Amino acid sequence: MTSLKACEVSGFSIERHEGIARATVAQRVEGCVDCSGTGLLRTQVKENGRIYDVASPCPRARMERRVALFNDARVPAVHAQSTFESYKPANAEQAQAVKVAKEFAHGWPSKRGFGLSGPVGTGKTHLLAAVLSHLTLEHGVACGYVEISLLFAQIRRGFQEGKSGGEIIGPLAQLHVLAIDELGKGRGTPFELDTLDELIARRYNAGRITLFATNYSLRPPEGKRSGVVTTEALLEGAKESKLLCDRVGERIYSRLCDLCDFVEFPPQSPDQRRARLR
Ligand SMILES: Nc1ncnc2c1ncn2[C@@H]1O[C@H](COP(=O)(O)OP(=O)(O)OP(=O)(O)O)[C@@H](O)[C@H]1O
Ligand SMILES: [Mg+2]
Ligand SMILES: [Zn+2]
Repeated sequence: MTSLKACEVSGFSIERHEGIARATVAQRVEGCVDCSGTGLLRTQVKENGRIYDVASPCPRARMERRVALFNDARVPAVHAQSTFESYKPANAEQAQAVKVAKEFAHGWPSKRGFGLSGPVGTGKTHLLAAVLSHLTLEHGVACGYVEISLLFAQIRRGFQEGKSGGEIIGPLAQLHVLAIDELGKGRGTPFELDTLDELIARRYNAGRITLFATNYSLRPPEGKRSGVVTTEALLEGAKESKLLCDRVGERIYSRLCDLCDFVEFPPQSPDQRRARLR
């Protein structure tokens, strides 16, 4: 475990642990001298000649809860340090993306999510991670991060242990904010599309906020298909398509349009992973 960030003011540090970013509080509430580990600070106030006992939350207990929320969000370890400040836009669309993400996080409670589309290494996951860190640690919001193909794999493994897909999707459907990464990736099998449909539809119906990132274009479908098209032909066409709507299907795409503001980076946006090699 390597320490990446130590924040003495707010009393926690963030490390990389087994692929996810993990925060630890500097001082646990258990041994807190201010609240004797109860999580509540008791003070007495005098009003109209009478003395009242007043309880308020101990800041250490609050920090411990927020750190637990951050850890439950499962932000990827490589993005343990990703912040809005460290994101350097290379074009107007990326400047727009950081603005949308920052306003979304700082303006919490926000009403609509956002979706980012762009080539590899352009900081889409970076911005999702910055939002989740901010919401959990600064606002105490229950959040989650999932990479879609890992979720499919997790559900498939669950089947072998007798778990239904719904059991794994249930908790993700409930979270106040869920960031779905690598949307559109996968083989586009009926199992994958049904899983994604269930996740998005449940969040949509529950009015939960959803964020996403994708390498596919967010452009609307190119005209209505006419004539009779078989499911096989549609699935085959979707494999080749560069459009997210073709990859995830009209039902899911339509709900995403309602759930999220879209920002699309131009194809020539620089890959920051490659830029590091120079
Ligand atoms: N505009 C940027 N400013 C600062 N750092 C950036 C920027 N874009 C990317 N990075 C950094 O480059 C690396 C790759 O970024 P990230 O993983 O967010 O890319 P991505 O768009 O999610 O790519 P992919 O589509 O491959 O998932 C990260 O370390 C990230 O912090
Ligand atoms: Mg990414
Ligand atoms: Zn305390």
